[in-house]
Amino acid sequence: MENPDMVSQVAQCGQQLKQNVWLGTTKAFIIILEEHAVLSPIISCFLDSQYYAKGDLGAATAYVCLEATAQGLGSNIIGLYDRKKICELLQIPMEKQFGAVIALGYPSNDTIRTKTRKTFEDIVRFV
Ligand SMILES: Cc1cc2nc3c(=O)[nH]c(=O)nc-3n(C[C@H](O)[C@H](O)[C@H](O)COP(=O)(O)O)c2cc1C
Repeated sequence: MENPDMVSQVAQCGQQLKQNVWLGTTKAFIIILEEHAVLSPIISCFLDSQYYAKGDLGAATAYVCLEATAQGLGSNIIGLYDRKKICELLQIPMEKQFGAVIALGYPSNDTIRTKTRKTFEDIVRFV
């Protein structure tokens, strides 16, 4: 959503513990919701219908952030938010699973802060 009043109200849902102060500059939010998957019977007799959903949501979230960057926007996945309030505001059924809440805006500068990453060896194992 990009309606300024709605964006401001959703931003406040992510600031309840006085965290995410930067959300005040958000211009739009994308909320990725999990839909019920209908798998082919050949697969669904082995796997729960939502088996792939979490991976799909993660992939969708990552691509949204990459596309935002490609369009010159800044993005930030937020995990700390009042889900109940967001559901009330946007009339989302409470039982709906959230994949991600992504804040979009304009970076204040082009500087990429120093990142502390695990080493390649720490996250990859060759067998
Ligand atoms: C599931 C999830 C929830 C997150 N929640 C927040 C959050 O509430 N506030 C925040 O500032 N960053 C949050 N982050 C971190 C940022 O979205 C971003 O991933 C982080 O700044 C690392 O990015 P970078 O190391 O590539 O710069 C969250 C990340 C993930 C994956």
